[in-house]
Amino acid sequence: MKRILILNGPNLNLLGQREPEIYGKTGFEPYLQQLRADFGSKADIEYFQSNHEGALIDKLHETGFEYDGIVLNAGAYTHTSIALADAIKAIRTPVIEVHISNVHAREEFRRHSYLSPVCKGVICGFGLASYQLAIIALLETRE
Ligand code: DQA
Repeated sequence: MKRILILNGPNLNLLGQREPEIYGKTGFEPYLQQLRADFGSKADIEYFQSNHEGALIDKLHETGFEYDGIVLNAGAYTHTSIALADAIKAIRTPVIEVHISNVHAREEFRRHSYLSPVCKGVICGFGLASYQLAIIALLETRE
């Protein structure tokens, strides 16, 4: 059983209510239950959300030497945070950057990510299924 952390950043606690035309009508908790059921005994999926940059960094430090993979949606910190990029660089666990929306089809400022260069890969634009695809990438792919 692989230990996987899903780490959600700012404003993602409002999923289901927040700009539903972009982020969908489903809250994260019901989706997470579904994911846990889908992956069953293959993955132990831990979940943490914070609106605070430092709390996200603390969680990366806490899990980043023990877990098998981290699926990170850093929300808008993706486009601003050198500190999060440094934290990802500092840990050993591979991190996959995910976005619900296709950030390349939106405002120009969303096209730049400080995190992409230090992540194992990036998945965006598949709605909540971006998380599922990231877990599949962590569990099923061969080097
Ligand atoms: C997001 C995209 C970011 O640009 C935005 O700031 C978010 C959500 C996404 O999942 O599509 O908060 O990371």
